[in-house]
Amino acid sequence: MVSSVKGTQDIRYPEIKRWQRVEATAREVFARYGFTEIRTPILERTELFVRGIGSETDIVNKEMYTFKDRKGRSLTLRPENTAGVARAVVEHSLHRSPSHARLFYIGPQFRYERPQKGRYRQFHQVGAEVIGDSSPGVDAETIAMVVDFLSQLGVMGLSVQVNSVGCPECRPGFVRVLKEALEEKKEFLCPDCNNRLERNPLRVFDCKVPSCREILKEAPVINENLCDDCRVHHEAVRKILGLMNVEAVQNPRLVRGLDYYTRTVFEITSAVLGAQDAIVGGGRYDGLLEEIGGPAVPAFGWALGIERLIMVLPDDASEEGRRLYLAWNGEDAYDAAVELACELRKRDCHVVMEHSARSFKSALKRADKLDSKWTVLLGEDELSSGLVTLKEMSTGEQSSLKWPELFSLMESEGEK
Ligand code: HAM
Repeated sequence: MVSSVKGTQDIRYPEIKRWQRVEATAREVFARYGFTEIRTPILERTELFVRGIGSETDIVNKEMYTFKDRKGRSLTLRPENTAGVARAVVEHSLHRSPSHARLFYIGPQFRYERPQKGRYRQFHQVGAEVIGDSSPGVDAETIAMVVDFLSQLGVMGLSVQVNSVGCPECRPGFVRVLKEALEEKKEFLCPDCNNRLERNPLRVFDCKVPSCREILKEAPVINENLCDDCRVHHEAVRKILGLMNVEAVQNPRLVRGLDYYTRTVFEITSAVLGAQDAIVGGGRYDGLLEEIGGPAVPAFGWALGIERLIMVLPDDASEEGRRLYLAWNGEDAYDAAVELACELRKRDCHVVMEHSARSFKSALKRADKLDSKWTVLLGEDELSSGLVTLKEMSTGEQSSLKWPELFSLMESEGEK
């Protein structure tokens, strides 16, 4: 057998129902904030990610699915969608049109990571990007939107953490201070951190090694080394989040794995997820559009991992639907059952019927396996009396109904 690729998943019933709920709620909530959907290609030129995400990041260094096409051009399966959206904005000058400045997307991303619970090689993100506004209110409102989205879905126990990673004015100074402080402790840091210190010092804050974390507790933090403009911006973001009733914790050690961030960064984590606890990550990226050859246009956004969200999503009873299994017995009953299925589907019922004969006993077993809420039995007896037998699967209760009675019952169930 040819099996699926490691780190990928087939998303099937019944789990697919949760995915559909997530996607439908996203579309509904984001529309309230004036966002429109964008679908960018899964394939982009490799250069876009190298320039956009940063050549010293783990994503670009170790995790990209990169290959040459038949003409020898280097292409990459997108590891995230922000760079692609930024490219689309530049390519179509979307930043000039106010209606296009707020974009959201839903789709697959690809990273060659070590698969584990909550971490896949093909995973899916819902994300949102606001292009063309540097106001702190944009940061706060876009964070509030994802919090609103998660609460609409009934997700509990989340923590919103914010920080500022400064700007090209103040960050280099901080990186120097950090490097100096850590150089003294170099021998106690893990080999990865020593490497980071040389190539991308801020990334040391991502280290999970306990002894490194101890050392980093004492290390200087960026939000105490911000320039005045970044400090004022950060204070304003926190204040506006407060006005929007979003409880956000200041985490001075929060840095992100992508190089394009300036000023605000944030993550939303779930205590029940374990090691891969970040559900949402994002921030401001005022330099990205220029970095990929576009105009100097500020931007803010976030992305959420759908697989991780599904893991903390509560059940929703309405997902059950009005599922009905229609069992028939006898040739004439088959004709009537075909007709009845059409009528029920017109009334929004989900109807499964077989087209080959089987006994009522085996039909009921089937109905049970399919998790049907009801089974409708239509045999010669029912046919001659113009009735159907309705069996409620959870209780086993049976009743005889005329077709119009069945329709009204289903319609009233739909209104519940
Ligand atoms: P990110 O932090 O790399 O940011 O990814 C965002 C979210 O995607 C993570 O919090 C996580 O839920 C999910 N995720 C990432 N990698 C995996 C994986 N291998 N398996 C499962 N889920 C995963 C970005 O992608 C940025 N583009 C976010 C952004 C948008 N910043 C500004 N705008």
